[in-house]
Amino acid sequence: MSNTCDFQEPFDLFANWLEKAKELEPRDHNAMTVATTTTDGKPSARMVLLKDWDQDGFVFYTNFDSRKGQQLQNNMQAALLFHWKSMNRQIRIEGPVEVVSDELADDYFNSRPRDSRIGAWASQQSRPMEGRWVFEKEIAKYAAKYAVGDIPRPPHWSGFRVKPHFMEFWQDRKFRLHDRHIYLLNDEKNGWTKEVWFP
Ligand SMILES: Cc1cc2nc3c(=O)[nH]c(=O)nc-3n(C[C@H](O)[C@H](O)[C@H](O)COP(=O)(O)O)c2cc1C
Repeated sequence: MSNTCDFQEPFDLFANWLEKAKELEPRDHNAMTVATTTTDGKPSARMVLLKDWDQDGFVFYTNFDSRKGQQLQNNMQAALLFHWKSMNRQIRIEGPVEVVSDELADDYFNSRPRDSRIGAWASQQSRPMEGRWVFEKEIAKYAAKYAVGDIPRPPHWSGFRVKPHFMEFWQDRKFRLHDRHIYLLNDEKNGWTKEVWFP
């Protein structure tokens, strides 16, 4: 286990824990919960995959007409949560959200398997569907349309970047006497303030 106190800013620590998770978690070590809110402040949470990250933020991709997509466009704030059972650790990240550049979204979209790219066209994510057959018909339609050549990225499909203002690293310890290391973005200092909180 790394000593969390060694890190003056959260990114090296994040990299360290994510790398460890990759070794230990058999599937989707990059899975995270993303929480958003409705316009009237009701919370809503679901899993997504972290696809890119650096000091500017944490990126996931989705359908912008989905429930989360609509909620984010109305309130560009989100919370992310990683939990790795194999390590008894969690990381919380909170902050404002921005849309990634078309270039970055195109690059990631083009790296996806062909069927996933067809799926992005065929799925009206989070809207009611009369039956699975409707989805299958849409998949067949777009598979035929894009049978040859490149599949363009749908206009409703892109990435959101959560820009961290708050990060918490939580490590389980015996008798629930856990460690909580908090990093708060300090705009005045243009850096991070570190705190330790009661568990
Ligand atoms: C492990 C896991 C990873 C997922 N990754 C994504 C993802 O990267 N993007 C996405 O749109 N949905 C992903 N989903 C599906 C979402 O959890 C969710 O069902 C879907 O995006 C619709 O959510 P919404 O109605 O709140 O918009 C994932 C689900 C699981 C369980």
